[in-house]
Amino acid sequence: MPVQVVARAGAPDAIVTALVVGLDDPDLLEEPQPLAAMAIAATSAAIDRRVTARRSWLGTGQNGRRSSAISIVSVQLDWTQDELLATDPVIEPLVAAGRRCHGGFAADGRYVSPRTQGRIPAIEAWQSAHVTAGGTLVAAPIDEWPEPYPNVAQSRYLLEEDVSDLVVTTLTRIGTVEGFGGLIRHAAVEGLQRHFDDSIAATTLAHLTSGLFEAHARDETGHGDEAGHKEMWFAARDIAFDRPFTDDETARMLDRMGIPAGALNSSGPPPDAATVRAALEAQRVHDDLDPAFEAMIRRMLGLMFIEVSAFHTFAWAEELLGDDALAAGDGEAARLVSYIRTDETPHVEYLRTAISEIRDRTLVGESGRRHEGRAVIDRLWAIGRAESLGPRRDALRQSTLAELECALAGNPRADEIRGGFHERGSLRPTLGGLEAVKEGA
Ligand SMILES: [Fe+2]
Ligand SMILES: [Fe+2]
Repeated sequence: MPVQVVARAGAPDAIVTALVVGLDDPDLLEEPQPLAAMAIAATSAAIDRRVTARRSWLGTGQNGRRSSAISIVSVQLDWTQDELLATDPVIEPLVAAGRRCHGGFAADGRYVSPRTQGRIPAIEAWQSAHVTAGGTLVAAPIDEWPEPYPNVAQSRYLLEEDVSDLVVTTLTRIGTVEGFGGLIRHAAVEGLQRHFDDSIAATTLAHLTSGLFEAHARDETGHGDEAGHKEMWFAARDIAFDRPFTDDETARMLDRMGIPAGALNSSGPPPDAATVRAALEAQRVHDDLDPAFEAMIRRMLGLMFIEVSAFHTFAWAEELLGDDALAAGDGEAARLVSYIRTDETPHVEYLRTAISEIRDRTLVGESGRRHEGRAVIDRLWAIGRAESLGPRRDALRQSTLAELECALAGNPRADEIRGGFHERGSLRPTLGGLEAVKEGA
């Protein structure tokens, strides 16, 4: 069905886009006057940027046939926090390993992600408005991230050899990293408008601190009595290995991976202002942007790269945990991972939209000087990408190798299994670290 932008009204900070949907009847194209009049009327009526959907029948066409319907829809660009945190009703909650999780199931059995009733249409509306206003939406660079380490073949091999610890630790780490997403709350910068020369009203940026960061944090860490992704990954692990892992076991795994036990306490108070300022100054890249504003951009880019990398991890986990020969639970662990994956889509989408909105605006530095958003974003993007694919990934691979040795400790066939593991991978250990033996690894 064709979608055509027919009118745009308002100042840049109050863009209202009227879309005409359903122009599939040539008769209608012969009646431009009523069409134009309706579009303008609908646009004017929608100046408050609230949802307006009108459906009008133009009646019988000249050839006696009934004409197609024309829907004139104005897109809502201002959303309240309550709207962005609202969840569609479900008839059955999601319960995993005895724990009530967020989300649930609609009457047709479809999984319903939490807090997406308003959030998904809102993000779509901001994306549409950004492009309509001449902006560019940056793409999430999913293809630029390599396969997980260990990969499916290596993990499958270990499980077939009855060595499960590395996969258990990997699932624990993924859940833990998901929990770090809750820290986005502490990256929030109030009064964001002062960092922009152009208005940010009616954009994703204007809603970061009034719903979007909070929804993201709740999805990752849980909220109230509903578990979020961190515990959903732990539940998937416990279901697949048919036993609950204790908090002490989890803490020991995290300790071995160098993740401090208190690092996940994202719902507590933020660190004091002086500590935050010192940390921000130390990491500062741009010499004129407000350090907290720059840190928020870096945090959003870093999270987007984690989300992008996670898409490969989901495929790994769903294939592995969905195999009845390898995992207990009749596929329930894999289904749980698929629900988490579904929840992630709005995370990637709002982050890339906000980043795009910054990129296509003029920024105001601390000195009052103007800076091209494009230059700032492209520089921070390159730094964040290099960190994610470079030192952070190397550290993760080294930690995986250490976990492999831990899992093989005392195993009389350790050498043989270690060899079989590396044979199935795209990396080989060397004296200096790991060397790629396949392109793209
Ligand atoms: Fe997540
Ligand atoms: Fe996420």
